[in-house]
Amino acid sequence: MRPTTGNKAERIFWAGVIAGLLIYWLLSRSRLDPDRIAKAGYNLIAPFYDSALEVFGGLDEVRRTMVERLELEADDQVLEVCVGTGANLPYIAQRIGPTGKIYGIDISEGMLAQAKKKLPAIPCPVELREGYAQALPYPDDYFDAVMNLGAMNFITDRRKAIDEMVRVAKPGARIAFCDETLAPDGNLRSILSRLVLMLVPRLRPPIDLVPEPGARLSYVANGLMYIVDWRKSFAVV
Ligand SMILES: C[S@@+](CC[C@H](N)C(=O)[O-])C[C@H]1O[C@@H](n2cnc3c(N)ncnc32)[C@H](O)[C@@H]1O
Repeated sequence: MRPTTGNKAERIFWAGVIAGLLIYWLLSRSRLDPDRIAKAGYNLIAPFYDSALEVFGGLDEVRRTMVERLELEADDQVLEVCVGTGANLPYIAQRIGPTGKIYGIDISEGMLAQAKKKLPAIPCPVELREGYAQALPYPDDYFDAVMNLGAMNFITDRRKAIDEMVRVAKPGARIAFCDETLAPDGNLRSILSRLVLMLVPRLRPPIDLVPEPGARLSYVANGLMYIVDWRKSFAVV
């Protein structure tokens, strides 16, 4: 994910993202279920995931920015979809305090096992469960904030996953998702970015899939990641 240790790390990062998307593209054309492959893949890499991310700086800036976008308050109930190894839990807990609660869901039991190891250090209740982003096992209008970091590009049915984030959020709740991209920045890289985005559509920020008005697109990590965030509408009666 986000490289912070110079050009070499940046090259490794992009080789990883492009290899991942190539594998995804090949799988999407096979008879295999990409979600099952993602589950198996993440189960395999789960024990090494946190140390691998450290090479790229651990995404500290991205995690802080995402959690800021949620505008959390004490006592909030927050859902992280695709919670992985729980790297965002400390950032969320710091904002909601001991009387708030975090819910995390992920397809990979291996990633969740790593997240469970972090729970003794998290100063608020956390409920982790296995499940799919496309079929969240939570009631309508339930959470004060909903986030998803680092998974949207690979989810098979992204529209359904975004719809689900909206469904389980309370009216007025903040919702945000974030993943890799290449931001246009007005120079040569802009041309290259557009070319890569054309060839690899999965790297385009899927803001068009947000079913509500008011979604905002911004870039972090030197334009290597996008954030889409908005506030869930109040129902029109
Ligand atoms: C790159 S990791 C990001 C983990 C964490 N959010 C973070 O910020 O470090 C992506 C996570 O998404 C999970 N995932 C992928 N597809 C999923 C799906 N369809 N439903 C639920 N989780 C999924 C993977 O198991 C993995 O833990």
